[in-house]
Amino acid sequence: MYESFYNLKRGPFDITPDPSFLFSTKRHNEALAALYYGVRWRKGFVVLTGQVGTGKTLLLRCLLQLLKQSKDVAYAYLFSSRLSPTEFLQYIVSDFGLPSGGKNKGELLFDLCNFVVNRGLNGLTTVLIVDEAHHLSAETLEEVRLLTNLETAEQKLLQIVLVGQPELDDKLDSVKLTQLKQRIAIRSHLEPLDQEDTKGYIESRLRLVRANSHTEILFPDKTIAAVFRHSRGIPRLINTICENALLSCYAKQLPSVTPEVIDEVARDFRLNVVRPAEVDKLGGFDEIDLQRAARILLDLYSSMNRPLTRDIDAPSPVAARARQA
Ligand SMILES: Nc1ncnc2c1ncn2[C@@H]1O[C@H](COP(=O)(O)OP(=O)(O)OP(=O)(O)O)[C@@H](O)[C@H]1O
Ligand SMILES: [Mg+2]
Repeated sequence: MYESFYNLKRGPFDITPDPSFLFSTKRHNEALAALYYGVRWRKGFVVLTGQVGTGKTLLLRCLLQLLKQSKDVAYAYLFSSRLSPTEFLQYIVSDFGLPSGGKNKGELLFDLCNFVVNRGLNGLTTVLIVDEAHHLSAETLEEVRLLTNLETAEQKLLQIVLVGQPELDDKLDSVKLTQLKQRIAIRSHLEPLDQEDTKGYIESRLRLVRANSHTEILFPDKTIAAVFRHSRGIPRLINTICENALLSCYAKQLPSVTPEVIDEVARDFRLNVVRPAEVDKLGGFDEIDLQRAARILLDLYSSMNRPLTRDIDAPSPVAARARQA
């Protein structure tokens, strides 16, 4: 809609993870290298985590592109991981092109192991990639652990890549999964972009879709600073904000995007409204919960006309404990 007005060949801020748009930040580079070399050097078990919308699926698609170039690699790619252990195995077996219908768990495991071991004996690499792995249940993660046991004296025969949101870290850190955690060979984490990378990110996307060599500045520095402030450097949010800002500026026939328009879009998308549950995810969970609980109790006390026993700004029990420690 706005493309020709702004001299663009296509929309620069599509939210599908398209590898041709990859902007190589230091962290994305390191994470992609960890995934790729983990697989190529047959490290066995690689884990990548990161907040929602930071680019994990995009990196997996880049990894798949790289792996497709090698004839010795076969992979199964699973992205809907709310599966029972049997469904999980069924999906993997059929993605490797083996018959899976009507087989029970033992038969599926047997076929899969045969397949992986035969390939390994022939010097071929076999990879299992699971996106959204934070949805895997403890039972299915136990199947993953069993699969990590497929090895010779020198190397792992099945390369396993698990990718997911930070809840995956929590699951892997749980006592129940200690055995699986000990098998992780490479573990990396994607963080949101900093302000400089946000600028590079926006400019690189615009460069890729520019229709001609005109170099009008569509997103001046102050506008980019506003995008960073509202998106907190999360690429998916950057895309949503920028896309909607372009639409809005086009409607107003503005030659470039202003910080005010970015603020409007952020307000429309309620980006600054953070529910307590999301605040927890952003960092200060225990402390915030306790403060909230204390406030509710104090409100309750005041509504019952009882005298207040603790000032609302007095340190919470957690802060007090931290000071004693
Ligand atoms: N380094 C990058 N270069 C270009 N685009 C990026 C980059 N990182 C993220 N993006 C873009 O941000 C958007 C979100 O990325 P993606 O879907 O990969 O996030 P995710 O971490 O898998 O999110 P979720 O946790 O919700 O699955 C996509 O449009 C993707 O193309
Ligand atoms: Mg994803």
